[in-house]
Amino acid sequence: MIQPDVDLQPYNTMTIAARAKYFCTASSLDEVREALLFAREHKLPILPLGGGSNIVLTDDFPGLALHLGMRGLEFETLAAGAGSDKSTDSGVRIRAAAGENWHQLVMRSVELGYGGLENLALIPGNIGAAPIQNIGAYGVELKDSFEQLTALEIESGELVTFTAEQCQFGYRDSIFKGPAKDRFLICEVVLRLSSIWQPHVSYPALQQHFSEHGQSPDALTPAIVADAVIDIRNSKLPNPVEIPNTGSFFKNPVVDEQLYTSLKAAHPELVAFEAVDGWKLAAGWLIDQAGWRGFRKNGVGVHDRQALVLVNPGHRCGSEVVNLAREIASDVQHKFGVTLEPEPRFYP
Ligand code: FAD
Ligand code: EPU
Repeated sequence: MIQPDVDLQPYNTMTIAARAKYFCTASSLDEVREALLFAREHKLPILPLGGGSNIVLTDDFPGLALHLGMRGLEFETLAAGAGSDKSTDSGVRIRAAAGENWHQLVMRSVELGYGGLENLALIPGNIGAAPIQNIGAYGVELKDSFEQLTALEIESGELVTFTAEQCQFGYRDSIFKGPAKDRFLICEVVLRLSSIWQPHVSYPALQQHFSEHGQSPDALTPAIVADAVIDIRNSKLPNPVEIPNTGSFFKNPVVDEQLYTSLKAAHPELVAFEAVDGWKLAAGWLIDQAGWRGFRKNGVGVHDRQALVLVNPGHRCGSEVVNLAREIASDVQHKFGVTLEPEPRFYP
């Protein structure tokens, strides 16, 4: 069912109206292969699409937008002794097809009583995209429960397995943004959760939430943590169904000791966390301090409760969004000497 000239507005959470030369939803591996054959015959570039919550369409896409809609979610309970590295551990292995919704997977695992994914509740999008930027929130990243993935190599049509190490996960980063960029379609992801649960609640917003709600750290369960994360997210992040957005528009920048020290001296309230390669600054704080929070122009703007989130309430075109992002980045560069890098991927 390859359709010509399709509006991608329903397929991206920024609600940018851009057209794809061709579009199709693939619900099986065979359908993905057929779509790839079509693209090869017509020499079309491919835009893999999940939930469209981390893309910015700057123009019409002159190729095939391939919506990966494969479904399938299995929870396999592991007997004690299964698995080499966690030999005394039972737990669960989760096999999820690319088109499964991420948040639903998280909530299903929480309902079944398994911990490990609860800090990642309410992140929009599908499982197939989760490894691309190693999704993360509230002190936890996908890589912490990742076992392996299976991807189809676009060039050869072969299925290839990637272990966690081969994925080269980093902060909002993986091999699929580096050497393997645009070469693979992720078809299935396998996660492994331990039966021994350790809550990860040191993130300041979580600490504050539990203290405000009189929640004892000793009585936490995965479900309580998931609820807290959902509450916090709802209090500051716009629901894309109501206010179009792609979440954080920029990554949190990592700066060297020298720049950190001078910024901290000039702005004692600077929000920064020590990282392996320097200091990670809260980009939202920098943008907020530069005066952009709540800004609106030409139907696009900056969310009023989280300055790192650009919004598109006017359903404007991608160039309006990109122009605003450029203005903000240049202002932050000018005021703080810090370079901001976009988090979502721009197409074409
Ligand atoms: P898409 O936007 O469809 O695709 C993203 C990229 O992955 C594109 O380059 C696309 O081509 C590629 N891709 C998609 N599927 C596949 C596949 N199967 N194989 C190969 N390539 C593929 N992210 C976080 O990490 N943490 C957060 O806390 C967070 N919060 C968010 C909050 C909001 C309100 C929003 C709108 C976004 C947020 N995001 C967050 C970003 C986004 O949810 C994640 O990046 C998510 O993984 C994107 O999933 P998707 O299916 O929508 O991907
Ligand atoms: N802050 C401000 N003003 C703002 C926004 C933030 O002062 O307008 C301050 C906050 O008060 C806080 C700090 O900046 O002290 C950090 O803010 P927050 O906890 O909201 O997190 P963030 O760094 O802005 C990151 C991720 C989010 C993720 C949260 C929770 C990136 C680029 N963003 O945001 O991920 O949900 O932490 O872990 O790393 C996404 O990737 O799309 C995304 C939403």
